[in-house]
Amino acid sequence: MKVVVLGTGYVGLTTGACLAHLGHEVIGCDIDADKIGNLRMGKLPIYEQGLDHLCAAHRDRLRFSTDLARHAPSADVVVLAVGTPMSADGDIDLRAIETAARDVAPLLKSNATIAVKSTVVPGTARRLREIVAEARKGLDFSLASNPEFLREGSAVSDFLCADRIVLGADDPRAADVLRQVYAPLIAQGIPAVETSTVNAELIKYASNAMLAMRIGFINNIADLCEIIDGDVETVSQAVGLDKRIGPGFLKAGPGFGGSCFPKDIRALAALGRNRGARQPLVEALITENDNRQQRLVDRVLDCLGEQPRGRRVAVLGAAFKAGTDDLRESIALVVVEALVKAGAKISLFDPVAARAVSEVFPDVDPAPDPYDAAQGAELALVLTEWPEIAAIDLEHLKAVMAGSTLIDFRNLFDARHARELGLTYFSIGRPLPRSVGPANPDVLVAAE
Ligand code: UDX
Repeated sequence: MKVVVLGTGYVGLTTGACLAHLGHEVIGCDIDADKIGNLRMGKLPIYEQGLDHLCAAHRDRLRFSTDLARHAPSADVVVLAVGTPMSADGDIDLRAIETAARDVAPLLKSNATIAVKSTVVPGTARRLREIVAEARKGLDFSLASNPEFLREGSAVSDFLCADRIVLGADDPRAADVLRQVYAPLIAQGIPAVETSTVNAELIKYASNAMLAMRIGFINNIADLCEIIDGDVETVSQAVGLDKRIGPGFLKAGPGFGGSCFPKDIRALAALGRNRGARQPLVEALITENDNRQQRLVDRVLDCLGEQPRGRRVAVLGAAFKAGTDDLRESIALVVVEALVKAGAKISLFDPVAARAVSEVFPDVDPAPDPYDAAQGAELALVLTEWPEIAAIDLEHLKAVMAGSTLIDFRNLFDARHARELGLTYFSIGRPLPRSVGPANPDVLVAAE
């Protein structure tokens, strides 16, 4: 099939490359001429494991263009993968996707299918159908919803080895077209859920809200563990062994970030409010995740004591999770901003995102490795679970530091080992340094 993917961001590019891998002839279209120029030269705008390889391997079937008018008229399917950012009131901003639908309408051939890949609030596909019908009266076309469930860092395998494919269609022809697009994956046994466009859109929001809810829940349990001398790692593992619950997304940490969870749960809450079916659990989750980040920032500042100005801090990790250079809604930005405001001197190591942080905060020094970042630091702070950070030799780290406080928001290290080395080690949901709380770091050091 000939597929035009409109939008070559993280979702559009992954989708385009994977559809080419499935044998389709794909044109990735974007209005950003620089991006298209780079893509044509094999330069990807994002870091995503395996994507460069896939793009290179299918160069004959995966092409890029700014010229939608040239390619859309021969497309069997146009995939809309443009951005749907969060607007100021927490609702979703659908202007780009509505414009895309309006732009593509006059170009389509009869019988073409528009498939919405961008995450959109339920009801959007139906609204887009009206927009296209209005912009191109008399055109015979279908409009489908085909949400993605791609995690950054494993997007290619999430696409090609998906748990399920959701084919949202309100007419049999759209369902048939989507089935053909995904035929190779369906033939491999990946379950395809055929349903209405509204259901497909809601499945995406409900899935992300459920995953975020699990993280929010285990983080609450982690808070309790810190107070009652529990260990969230053991609790979470045992809870996850219950087959009804399962182990995924039960890792306690600094709260969820990234470009999807915070945005999608806000949009779901706004939808519930607007349509008279409030989502109180989701609303509580939003507040709780925001508050958690603030509480953790306070914990860091407490550890720096009353005079944070000029004190050296090593920040280890900046991306919102390992495997990506994405800083969107990363707790690192919140923590670094607070530290910069407090006057601390920050050296930051992240294998791929350090430079991007120092572009936002010019006073932050990017460091080539964790030990360089920790040189002379009074406090080291782990924010992202990169393997390079998990592999840190704590003895070496302590030796280069001027102080001895290690705050680990990803529970990468063995607490006993860290403390045996003389580090004042804070982690998440595990016993705090002996018999003292984080509020008074001087007492803490003494107790160690
Ligand atoms: C998510 C969804 O997983 C994906 O299906 C959707 O299409 C896009 O949003 P992504 O944003 O790439 O993917 O990240 P994900 O791996 O889901 O992690 C999101 C956040 O939750 C990160 O900040 C991560 O650190 C945090 N997280 C995840 C936890 O704190 N604990 C966990 O157990 C899992």
